[in-house]
Amino acid sequence: MNRPSDAAIDALMDELSRGLRADQLSRDPEKLAAYGHDESDTGDFPPQLIVFAERTEDVAFVLRTCQAHGVPVTPVGARSGKSGGSLPLYGGASLSLERMNRILSISTENLTAVCQPGVITGELMRAVEEKGLFYPPDPNSWEFCTLGGNVAENAGGPRALKYGVTRDYVIGLEWVLPSGETIRVGRQTIKGVAGYDLVGLFVGSEGTLGIATEITVQLIPLPRFVKTALLLFADVNAAAKAVTAILHSGILPRTLELLDDVSVAAVDGRGFSFPPGTGAAVLAEVDGNDEEPLFAELARLGEIATQHGATETLLAADGPQRERLWAARRSLSTSLRALKRHKISEDIAVPRARIPEVIAQLKAMGAELGLTVATYGHAGDGNLHANILYDGPHERAKVDTALERMVKLTLAAGGTITGEHGVGYAKRAFITWEQGPKVVALQQQLKALFDPKHLLNPGKIFPG
Ligand code: LAC
Ligand code: ZN
Repeated sequence: MNRPSDAAIDALMDELSRGLRADQLSRDPEKLAAYGHDESDTGDFPPQLIVFAERTEDVAFVLRTCQAHGVPVTPVGARSGKSGGSLPLYGGASLSLERMNRILSISTENLTAVCQPGVITGELMRAVEEKGLFYPPDPNSWEFCTLGGNVAENAGGPRALKYGVTRDYVIGLEWVLPSGETIRVGRQTIKGVAGYDLVGLFVGSEGTLGIATEITVQLIPLPRFVKTALLLFADVNAAAKAVTAILHSGILPRTLELLDDVSVAAVDGRGFSFPPGTGAAVLAEVDGNDEEPLFAELARLGEIATQHGATETLLAADGPQRERLWAARRSLSTSLRALKRHKISEDIAVPRARIPEVIAQLKAMGAELGLTVATYGHAGDGNLHANILYDGPHERAKVDTALERMVKLTLAAGGTITGEHGVGYAKRAFITWEQGPKVVALQQQLKALFDPKHLLNPGKIFPG
């Protein structure tokens, strides 16, 4: 596929301007450049045109018109994605959902909410929490990522350990197909098994099968108490073993976030100072409606950690202290970026019992290749952010070797190439390694059924 010619974009623009206001269309070079990259560090792919949808009809009109003109179109939210999902690899139009940012309703009786795709995830969280309800999926970018992006990538987060991921909460969707037809899939009820699970298919389809224009999520009651502990270790292997031990002790914390030595050093002093000698940390959190049992659970958790070499267990004394710990954790991705000029962030997931061995292998690989590998993430559910930090193109060959080896050791441990960020552009070369050609071909047939001309977000998920 080639980038469309300027004449093709002129013609598309002409037709789009018959159905949209001028301020919904942009060819401003600065804007185009900004929409050409995201948080994946995989390069720059500027669109030739950006369209800002304000209602479902706009989305349908843009998709219909792009089909008629044979121009690729790529949906985009906050550009906080880590797999290149919103990058217009072959130019054409970026279709932004940012302006469709209203929470349409929250029902305290049904425990559901209906949102437009551009709603910032954190705004939904806050709005439902004010009503005593809880929307658990918490990607660390929740202060700026959008619900539509979370749906596209089936985003997870620290609380996935106890509460699951985006797909576990989406029950219904208004969905615009690549052709521009609008359908409703799923339901407004909590239970429902009629027909194939199209909601399950669309959530996590990475912007390749259509676009969510209305999202119905189920909510749960907000736990009244949350208690947070920081477990400190001298080295990451001990921490990883403690995580595994905690998980079969009968306690299900809502988070068990691991930070290795590089990660601890990257956030040290940024709102929280680690005692000297800290080589790894685990951020553990439990929640419930009664306060006392939570202290008992944290004490038990601390004991198990101590048996595995924890040097200290610190309890967050109050809300602000807890918030400082989480702010440090949430900023980890950015703090690591500051260490070297380039950073590749993987999000492999392995069966949780294999965490200690996989972390040891990653560290050994980094040492052998002479690369800084930082490992942190949602260790409780086996999902690790293994980050390769490097200085410049002269190291790129080494980095590629490291990436391949990382994928191979993950798959050998029974893992997957992506636990929460999606395959997108960044990992498309590896999906066949994980799933084999038959399963990949079946999914490509599904894509062709929805989008025979491959105009919606082309080039994603599957090898090029
Ligand atoms: C995190 C992102 C990288 O967990 O998924 O910080
Ligand atoms: Zn993560």
